[in-house]
Amino acid sequence: MKPWHQDNSFWKEFAPVLFNPQRVERTKEEVDNIISLLNLKAGASVLDLCCGPGRHSLELARRGFSVTGVDRTRIYLTEARKKAKKERLKIDFIQKDMRGFCKPNSFDVVLNLFTSFGYFEDEKDDKKVLKNVYRFLKKGGVFLIDTVGKEVLARRFQGSDWYEINDILILEEGKICKDWTWVESRWIMIKDGKKHETKISHRLYSAKELSSLLKDCGFSSVYVYGDLTGSSYDDKAKRLILVAHKGKKKK
Ligand SMILES: C[S@@+](CC[C@H](N)C(=O)[O-])C[C@H]1O[C@@H](n2cnc3c(N)ncnc32)[C@H](O)[C@@H]1O
Repeated sequence: MKPWHQDNSFWKEFAPVLFNPQRVERTKEEVDNIISLLNLKAGASVLDLCCGPGRHSLELARRGFSVTGVDRTRIYLTEARKKAKKERLKIDFIQKDMRGFCKPNSFDVVLNLFTSFGYFEDEKDDKKVLKNVYRFLKKGGVFLIDTVGKEVLARRFQGSDWYEINDILILEEGKICKDWTWVESRWIMIKDGKKHETKISHRLYSAKELSSLLKDCGFSSVYVYGDLTGSSYDDKAKRLILVAHKGKKKK
């Protein structure tokens, strides 16, 4: 059986929850924050690794960045390409597994947003992705990763929860496993009277663990934040954001 993250029907069925209108609406603000946190200059080449339906790729292209989006899920890329065409935005959307994509010394910036990392059972795959990211970057380039920090999850973990997004009801049941290195969640979605159920899981990293892994993969300076505005990673952090530089940090 394929793992959940390689299951096309999962990405299709749960897309209305993952990319709900409220989340899509927040994209502009997220991009504002990323530009300011990384001090990006228009024209920079950006790789949106695991771009999904392209919400950040499209917004970055609208602002004059040269964007490449990579994702494994065909339906998302089809949607992203359609939107880009409608707005006459030139974005290179590539269907590829993040472990296999390779374009050395090509990007000023690599982004990996909204918990798109840590899916693989074998830890070596995570390291392979980060080593590749290091290779994709030009000297002086920067990588930003946005994920669920272990510390944040420990503070907020509820075991089970339910919520509604528009007319969709979501029930979640979570379990921390493997000595706090892995989380497993069962999701039930009730949409239009139909029940959809799936199990997802991923590796958990603390700020220190992910920071060390990035340094092992070649990154020189790694900064940790609690959200995209650059707040501290403390007891109020919402996300785990790491900004890692290839070579010296640009002024
Ligand atoms: C939670 S979504 C985030 C999408 C996008 N970054 C966003 O913020 O809207 C995770 C994305 O990772 C993609 N993905 C999962 N496994 C992948 C892999 N091995 N290689 C490339 N993309 C992958 C999925 O298709 C999905 O689009």
